[in-house]
Amino acid sequence: MIQRRSREGSTEPLALEVEGLTVTYGKEPALWNADVRLGRGSLAAVVGPNGAGKSTLLKAALGVVPRVSGRVRVLGEDPARRRRLVAYVPQRTSVDWDFPTTVLDVVMMGTYGRLGWFRRPGREERAMALGALEQMELADLADRQISELSGGQQQRVFLARALVQDAEVYFMDEPFAGVDAVTEQSVASLMGHLAQRGKTILSVHHDLATVPRYFEHAVLLNRVVQAVGTVKEVFHRGNLDRLYGGRVPADVPELAST
Ligand SMILES: Nc1ncnc2c1ncn2[C@@H]1O[C@H](COP(=O)(O)OP(=O)(O)O)[C@@H](O)[C@H]1O
Ligand SMILES: [Mg+2]
Repeated sequence: MIQRRSREGSTEPLALEVEGLTVTYGKEPALWNADVRLGRGSLAAVVGPNGAGKSTLLKAALGVVPRVSGRVRVLGEDPARRRRLVAYVPQRTSVDWDFPTTVLDVVMMGTYGRLGWFRRPGREERAMALGALEQMELADLADRQISELSGGQQQRVFLARALVQDAEVYFMDEPFAGVDAVTEQSVASLMGHLAQRGKTILSVHHDLATVPRYFEHAVLLNRVVQAVGTVKEVFHRGNLDRLYGGRVPADVPELAST
């Protein structure tokens, strides 16, 4: 359970509450009886081998995979009722990048939640989108087709879209995949700033070496949740050997000690 001390007497709901969650696509469960509780302001990495159910956990938190059993709450409600407060950065490889739309339009999609059904995005939303593109150093590419961008640039477009959404909870699926070192730094510090402002971040992260630098909390997942807690508590050699079946890369430099 990851929980920051809340104000005394406060009954503030958790950012994410997953209880006994089992998800199956075919025969084998992709997630088995998973429990994950994240307090608001958590900055958490989801770590585990390929096929461990990391993306599935995020999709369950978004309410877009069928649950066999279990319960998911985002800010105390069913995920379907929290869409407005949740930003999602999908795994880059899961997106069809050929759809004909400009970079600016993709980012403007992030503002739809605040507009409601009848208002179309206007000058204010456009300015917000351009501001977010600037923050991701993509302002020059605003009018380009999304399909023409490099992988790292596409990734940053999705991060810009999440930014304009001004969400409370951010689910990110490998946001660092394919970005260069400079962008990685700016994305990491952006996540840190969001968490400082009380936003909650749950991000699938592949690079074990940078987990202690970028995250405060970790969810160790391999179809079952093996451990959830602060990086200091759970991100150590013993747990990681168990998680990866003893195949932890030898050059992981910053493992917290057991
Ligand atoms: N839409 C789907 N249909 C069928 N099987 C799926 C689907 N999505 C994921 N899976 C399977 O579920 C398991 C977990 O997938 P996923 O959550 O994407 O893992 P990870 O993100 O940790 O690599 C894998 O075995 C994967 O093949
Ligand atoms: Mg995945």
